[in-house]
Amino acid sequence: MNYKNLKKYIYIVLSILVLILYTKDIDFSGKSHYKEITVINEPDIKSVLVNKNYKLPIEYVPNDLTLISNLYAYENKYLRKEAKDAFEQLSRDASTLGYKIIAVSAYRDYYYQDQLYNNYIKEKGSQYADKCSARPGHSEHQTGLAVDVMGSNNDYDHFENSLEFEWMKNNAHHYGFILRYPENKTKITGFKYEPWHYRYVGITIANIIYQENITLEEYYDKYINLN
Ligand code: DAL
Ligand code: ZN
Repeated sequence: MNYKNLKKYIYIVLSILVLILYTKDIDFSGKSHYKEITVINEPDIKSVLVNKNYKLPIEYVPNDLTLISNLYAYENKYLRKEAKDAFEQLSRDASTLGYKIIAVSAYRDYYYQDQLYNNYIKEKGSQYADKCSARPGHSEHQTGLAVDVMGSNNDYDHFENSLEFEWMKNNAHHYGFILRYPENKTKITGFKYEPWHYRYVGITIANIIYQENITLEEYYDKYINLN
């Protein structure tokens, strides 16, 4: 093989390798989604990382779940006290500007998540289910720190098209919430874009994540050593 052919051969092999890695669902820390799973031992910390590699114990139920005012929630929805207060403040401030931000899903226990996930599988197949719905134990909704919201177009699935989405993009972090599954970070988070899903992490971390345009995974990678 001459030098020119060798270069071409190396280029082809490297391209194939890059393609394989890109399509293999590797998360930011290099772990394949759902392949290496760690059970979280401090589920109560408000910055807790829950994703396809970090799982909550089945029996974990936050001990300070609090009902969100029905002014800002569709039927009875619960968040942990600190997240609930922050969410109500956010919705209250938004409403003074004429916006309507309503919680349509908040705390979900392990078993309810199991039902949701399995319904997705039945309706759309497991590959699609894994892009939209967390497996039980892997959902942030079990932390009581995540909330799905709806705007004045009354369609959470199309929250992106509401005026409220624009407001949330620019203001959620002031209340300690982050857009958890951004459009251009699906390889890292493992989930498709969810304009409606916000996660409470507290104002300090939310500001960092907002300013650096990173995900919670990237925040952990940069600032917290989990190992
Ligand atoms: N839809 C999000 C990823 C969940 O099921 O928690
Ligand atoms: Zn959600």
